[in-house]
Order: sequence, then structure tokens, then C-alpha cells
Amino acid sequence: FGVMTYDPAFMNTASCRSAITYLDGEAGVLEYRGYPIEQLAEHSTYLEVAYLLVHGELPNQKQLDEWTHEITIHTFVHENVRSFMQGFRYDAHPMGMLLASVGALSTFYPDANKIHDPETRYLQIIRLIAKMPTLAAFAYRHNMGQPYVYPDNDLRYPGNFLSMLFKMTELKYEPDPRLERALDVLFILHADHEQNCSTSAVRAVGSSQVDPYSAVAAGIAALYGPLHGGANEQVLRMLRRIGTKENIPDFMQGVKDGKERLMGFGHRVYKNYDPRAKIIKKACDDVFEVTGVNPLLEIALELEKIALEDEYFVKRKLYPNVDFYSGLIYEALHMPVGMFTVLFAIPRTSGWISQWLEMIDDKEQKIARPRQIYTGEREREYVPLDKR
Ligand code: CMC
Repeated sequence: FGVMTYDPAFMNTASCRSAITYLDGEAGVLEYRGYPIEQLAEHSTYLEVAYLLVHGELPNQKQLDEWTHEITIHTFVHENVRSFMQGFRYDAHPMGMLLASVGALSTFYPDANKIHDPETRYLQIIRLIAKMPTLAAFAYRHNMGQPYVYPDNDLRYPGNFLSMLFKMTELKYEPDPRLERALDVLFILHADHEQNCSTSAVRAVGSSQVDPYSAVAAGIAALYGPLHGGANEQVLRMLRRIGTKENIPDFMQGVKDGKERLMGFGHRVYKNYDPRAKIIKKACDDVFEVTGVNPLLEIALELEKIALEDEYFVKRKLYPNVDFYSGLIYEALHMPVGMFTVLFAIPRTSGWISQWLEMIDDKEQKIARPRQIYTGEREREYVPLDKR
């Protein structure tokens, strides 16, 4: 043991070495395996990005075809998983349902605990990426009181998800290509973000060498919390509360007086414009072309304009983060707010599982076991119950 330092929330401690995601918060740079997020969002697809994260390199056409095929044939879940989900209360939170269902998958694939066998663990990686949209869509349909829709494996990954969410007749669901692309871009942007709270949870739990379903369930649990995955929901509530442009000056004064925060602004690591927020802003336009403009967009744009010029925000380096605009898109897609975090968990699965894989193969990695600074009593004499 070296000298023990006190570092609550590990703000200054690197818990691992990683070659997956590079983030420079001062410069507003985000790269997956060295590729800038802007290029990936423009040219790539989520499944290609998932391959990149897991394998470290972009696939060639043959590799991408095989990867896509493998994921596509694993989209269905066991019928008992479906029954298990149907057992939830009618108003169960979709994120709670997802968390429990992913944990339950470990009991359907008991071999998953052979984490040092490359073939077995590769299969679990494929299964996790493949089944996450199915579980997410089942949770949504459950919440809406609608029958679950099975995957349609003729469709691409985001289109298949849209079909499982929105298909209402026996006819084949034809996803709008603009919505499909916007969803694909959102998935790319959310795929990984280095050692955030949920990824750290996956690594910590995975370091006990438990199966990957249980480790990913831990990540989902961390993401469920309002300080992590829940901020876009808060942005939407804030925009609804402001209601009209006329109310903005009063609201902003309240923020500057410290009464509340401008949700969707500021970031622990980014002290510049979050590069993902710029891309999402553009995706908004594409989605609204199909769904009609979300009236809250006008308020969001005005808030951003004011904040970027206001001394309070400039001095503190507060810029829009990824959550400022994503909620507007989800709402335009008629997603209940409870689904927002689920929509984050689907793509983050590829990041979690890549980080898990890297950790398992890292010879320096031991079981996560932080130390503490003990602040309690010492060496007290036990007092019998009748003497207390
Ligand atoms: N609105 C108004 N003031 C703010 C805001 C905000 N959104 N964020 C930070 N500040 C102020 C804060 O009051 C403090 O001012 P002062 O120095 O006068 O006390 C200063 O800026 C520094 O804030 P901090 O709380 O020390 O910064 P942090 O790095 O601990 O917090 C944050 C980062 C994201 C928690 C915070 O900016 C925040 O609460 N933002 C709103 C919630 C939000 O949008 N969260 C989503 C984050 S992105 C999610 C992801 O990447 O997964």
C-alpha cells in the first residue's frame, strides 16, 4: 500500500487505464478510439460504433455484415423474460423494469459466468447489445398498456426499435428514415463517456468477476439516478414550467440569484460547449421536420442565446450539455419522461460492455476495493442490553 489519500467521489484518482474514450473538457473534445464524435455522428451508424468500441477498430464491410447479422439474430428474448416483465405493476417505471430484466438475463444464460472464455463472453456481448432495445420497448409498451411487439429482423437496429415501440397494426411498420437516422445519431452520441458513474459501477461490480449481465444491471442502476441519466427529464420539466418566452427573464434572474439551476447547462468535465450538444441541436431539426416543431424549442433556443452572452454563465464556463436538447427530441417522439433514461441505457450498453471487456483483460486490474478514512469510535466495551 502507498500513502492513502482522501479523494471523495474519486475526482482526482484514475481508477483504470483505458484506450476507449478520450475526453478533453477544456477543449470540448470527445473521441471514441481516437475518432472524433463529430465524424462518427456524420458518417457512421450505432452498430458500427458499437463494433468500434468493442473491437478497437472500425470494421470492414465483411466484419460489419457479420456483426450486424449476429446482433440481428439475437434480438428476441426468451418467452419467460417476456412473462417476467408482464408481472410488473401496470405503472412500473420502465427503467426499473429494464434494470430487473437485464439482471434476470444472467439466469437464462448461466454460462455467462465463464468470463475468461473468449467465445462465451463474446456471445454475451452480442446478446446484450441485441436484446436491450427489445427489453426497452417491452417496458414502454407495458407502461402504455399495449401488447408487446416482437422484433422485426428485416429492419435495421434503430428502425426495429421504432417498430417495437410504435407498431399498431398487423401491417409491417415502415420507420421514417429521418427518425431512424436521428435515433441512430442519438445512440452514437450516448455510446460511451469514459469513467462516468454508471461505467465506474460496471467496472467495480465486474471486477468481482460476476457475469456481464449482472455488471451491466449495476450500470443501469447507477444511470437510473437523477444526477446521472435523469437530467434531460429535468430540462423538459423546466422548459414546461417556464412555458413562454416572456417568463424567461424572471427565470434567469432566479438562476443567477442561486434559487435554481439552468438544467442542461454545465458539466463536471466539459468547461466548453459539450460537442454532443452541438450535434443534437442539428438532430432536433431533422426530427421536427417529421413530427412538427416542439414549441418548447423556442424557449430552449432563447435560454441558450441569453446564457451564452451572460456574464454569470460565461465566467463559470457553463455551456449546454448533451441533455439540453435530447429531451425535446424524445418528447417529439411521444416518449413519456420515464423512458428518457431507458433511451440512454440502450446505446450506453456498448460502452459499458467495452469497458467491462477491457477491465477483464487488464492484468493490473484487481477487485475494486477503495480504502476509507475511519471517523468512528474505537475499542468500546460491549454494554449489556439492560444496562443501556
Ligand atoms: N445553472 C446555474 N448555475 C450553475 C449551473 C447551472 N446549470 N451549473 C453550475 N452552476 C454554477 C454553480 O452554482 C457554481 O457557482 P458558484 O461558483 O457561484 O457557487 C458554479 O457554477 C460551479 O458549479 P459546480 O456545481 O461546482 O459544478 P460541478 O462541476 O460540480 O457540477 C453539474 C456540474 C453538471 C452537476 C452542474 O453544472 C449542474 O447541476 N448542471 C445542471 C444539471 C445538468 O444539466 N446535468 C447534466 C450533466 S451532463 C450528463 C452526462 O454527461 O452524462
